[in-house]
Amino acid sequence: MTAFGKLIRTTAFRLTLVYLLLFALFAASLLGYFAWNTRRLITEQITTTVNAEISEVTNIYDHRGLRGLVFTIENRALRPGANLYLVTTPTGQAIAGNVGSLMPGVMASSGWSETAYRRLDEQDTAAHRALVHVTQLSGDFRLLIGRDLEERRRLFGIVAQAAQWSLLVVVILGIGGGIFVARRVLQRIDAMTGTAQRIMAGDLSGRLPVGRSGDELDRLAENLNAMLERIEALMMGLKEVSDNIAHDLKTPLTRLRNRAEEALAKSGCEADYRAALERTIEESDGLIRTFNALLMIARAESGQARGNMDDFDAADVASGIHELYEPLAEDDGVTLRLKTAPAPLHGNRELISQALANLVENAIKYGKPTARQQPQGSVVSLETKQILIEARREGDQVLISVTDHGPGISEVDRKHAVERFVRLDSSRSLPGSGLGLSLASAVATLHGGELRLDDARSGLIATLTIPARVAAGDRVPGQTQDATQKVA
Ligand SMILES: Nc1ncnc2c1ncn2[C@@H]1O[C@H](COP(=O)(O)OP(=O)(O)OP(=O)(O)O)[C@@H](O)[C@H]1O
Ligand SMILES: [Mg+2]
Repeated sequence: MTAFGKLIRTTAFRLTLVYLLLFALFAASLLGYFAWNTRRLITEQITTTVNAEISEVTNIYDHRGLRGLVFTIENRALRPGANLYLVTTPTGQAIAGNVGSLMPGVMASSGWSETAYRRLDEQDTAAHRALVHVTQLSGDFRLLIGRDLEERRRLFGIVAQAAQWSLLVVVILGIGGGIFVARRVLQRIDAMTGTAQRIMAGDLSGRLPVGRSGDELDRLAENLNAMLERIEALMMGLKEVSDNIAHDLKTPLTRLRNRAEEALAKSGCEADYRAALERTIEESDGLIRTFNALLMIARAESGQARGNMDDFDAADVASGIHELYEPLAEDDGVTLRLKTAPAPLHGNRELISQALANLVENAIKYGKPTARQQPQGSVVSLETKQILIEARREGDQVLISVTDHGPGISEVDRKHAVERFVRLDSSRSLPGSGLGLSLASAVATLHGGELRLDDARSGLIATLTIPARVAAGDRVPGQTQDATQKVA
C-alpha cells in the first residue's frame, strides 16, 4: 500500500473528513439562512415603502387629477436613486415616469411582480431587475411604482462569494489538518508496529515509545509496556526455572540412580536390597516434594491461583499452622507461641497456609540459638527457645509473621535467600531444597504484597505483608488475644 493510501485509510483522516463535511454543511446552512433572511428583509422594506408611496400618489390623483399625478411623477422620476415610476394611458401609452421598457405584460396585470427593465435615460445598457407594483387608477390609467433590485443582488453576490471562499478555506484547512493529524498518528503507530515486530522476532526487551503528551496512544503504549514487562518477567522466570530444574534436580536423580546401581552391583542379601529401596523411596519423596513446591510456585507466579480466592481471617490460618507444628516444635525443644488479632484477607487460603508453614518450618529448622549466641555453660533463656507466630491487621495491611531467635540471615544474603533453590552455606547440613522462601515470596506477590526478612532482636523475623480485605462489614482491629497461656 502506498504511503498516501495508508494515510487516507487512517481513522484520524476519515474522522477529519466527516467533521469537514459536517462543518461545511453547518457553514452552508448558516450562510443560506443569512442570505434568505436578508433577501426577505430587503423585499419587505421595498414593499412597505412602495405601498406608502402608492397611497400617497393615488391620493394626489384623487384630489388633483391626472395633471397633479403627472406632475408629481415627473418630479419624483427626476430624483436620483433606485425608484421607478411609470404612468400609462388606457391605450398603454406612457405619459410620465423614468421607465423606458419593461417585460411585456407587466402593466397589464395589477399587483406585485418582478421584472427586467431599462431606464428611460439609458437605452443601450443591459436590463436591470426590479420589484414593481402596478395599480389600476380610475379612468383606466395605470400607475407603476417600483424599486431596483441591484442592492439585493449585490448583497446576494457577497454572500455567495463568502460561501465559496469559506468553503474553500474549510476544505483546504480540513484536508491539510486531516493529513497532518493522520501522519502523526501513523508515525506513532508505525513505530509501535516496528517494536511489536522486533518483540515477535524474539527481542523481549523491546518497549513501545511513549510520548510526553499523555494522550490515549501514550496510555495504550504505557499499558502495553507494562504487559510486556510482565511477559518478560514471566519468560525469564520460566527460563530460570528450567535452568534450575536442570541443575538442581540432576544431582538427586543421579544420586538415586547411582545408589540403585551400587545396590545391584553389590548383590547383597535381601536386607541390603530393602535398605537400598527404602533410601530410594526417601530420595524420591524428596524429589516429589521439590516438584510440588515448584508447581505451587509456578501456580502462584502465573496468577493461575487467583481463580481460587475467597474471604477468610489470617488469624484462623495462623492458629491452624500453630496447631499443626506445635508437636514438631516441642520435639525440637522449642515453644511455638501464637499471637493473633482479626486480620481479614481475600486470597488463596491454601497458598497462604503453605507460605506460613514454610516460614514456621524454617524457624524450627534454622532458628535455634547457635553456639556463638549461647556460650558454653550459659543458661538458655526461655525466650530464645520460643518461636512466635503473629497475625494482625495494621492499617490496610495484614501482617503474618514468624519470629525466631536463631542466627538470622545477614543483610547481604536476604535478597538472595528468597531465590529459587538457594540455600545458605550455614544450613547446607540440614535437609531442604531451597524453595520454601521462594514460595512464600511468590504467594505474597500474588496477593499484591511482599515477603520481608528483618532482624529480630536476635534472629529472624519473616513477615508476609498483604493488603487487607476492605469491606463494609469489616471489623476494626480488635483486642490482641495472646494464646501463650493456651500453649503453656
Ligand atoms: N529462620 C531462618 N534463620 C536463618 N536462616 C534461614 C531462615 N529461614 C531461611 N533461612 C536460610 O534461607 C535459605 C532458604 O530458605 P528456604 O526456606 O527457601 O529453603 P530451605 O529451607 O533450605 O528448603 P525448603 O524450605 O525448600 O525445604 C535456607 O537454606 C537458610 O539458609
Ligand atoms: Mg525452608
